[in-house]
Amino acid sequence: MERKKIIAGNWKMNMLPDEAMQFIQGLTNIAEKHSEIEIILCVPYTDLFYALMAAQNTKIKIGAQNMHWEEKGAFTGEISGKMLEPIGVEYVIIGHSERRAYFAETDETVNKKVKSALKYNLKPIICVGETLEQRLKGETDSIIRRQVKNAFEQIEEEDLKQIIIAYEPIWAIGTGKTATAQEADDTISIIRQEIQQLYSKEAAKNIIIQYGGSVNSKNAKELFEKQNIDGALIGGASLNLEEFIRIIQLV
Ligand code: PGA
Repeated sequence: MERKKIIAGNWKMNMLPDEAMQFIQGLTNIAEKHSEIEIILCVPYTDLFYALMAAQNTKIKIGAQNMHWEEKGAFTGEISGKMLEPIGVEYVIIGHSERRAYFAETDETVNKKVKSALKYNLKPIICVGETLEQRLKGETDSIIRRQVKNAFEQIEEEDLKQIIIAYEPIWAIGTGKTATAQEADDTISIIRQEIQQLYSKEAAKNIIIQYGGSVNSKNAKELFEKQNIDGALIGGASLNLEEFIRIIQLV
């Protein structure tokens, strides 16, 4: 089975509703033309409704950037999977390094969120990645294996087809510093090895793993040529429609 290529934009805390709708209108034809690629926009909560409307009857999929693991209750400011599902959200980023760093997310909360996302038919995009310090100390492989193992605790093999992993080295996010295509491919191959250990050879071969961290139209081609890399999770470069389209055309 050929793994699907996925290009996901992570808009972070950017884009107003009218900008979101304009962006989606501008992307519609390209998404139609490249329907073999899954194109996802992970938008702020305040854009979800508008983005879903604009993306209706197009090939563009809409995702959220976070969710709570509980379905409801006294969690001021939070949004649950149960709330995202009925409005038509399909994907949700879980455990982005910015959430881990600034909002105290841990491997444990990531795992709870993954389970809850699956319960509500949302497809999690699980982010893992090491810091520069960890890379320099030679700890990348063990950190990544730990993050993957913990994120997938009590997740059944049959659910893996709903899940995407994004390998995002923290030192490459928003810094303009990309991992070389070789570094990205090597670490993603470690992730596949961990999935094989946790599940099976088949699972390791089939799971979709993206690279993320300063991806742009200049470095995307080399990354996409690598055997283990199934597309990209794109922050900064996903805010500019022309640049985002250029990247899609490089897949
Ligand atoms: P960046 O962000 O492309 O701006 O580095 C990627 C991400 O955080 O998902």
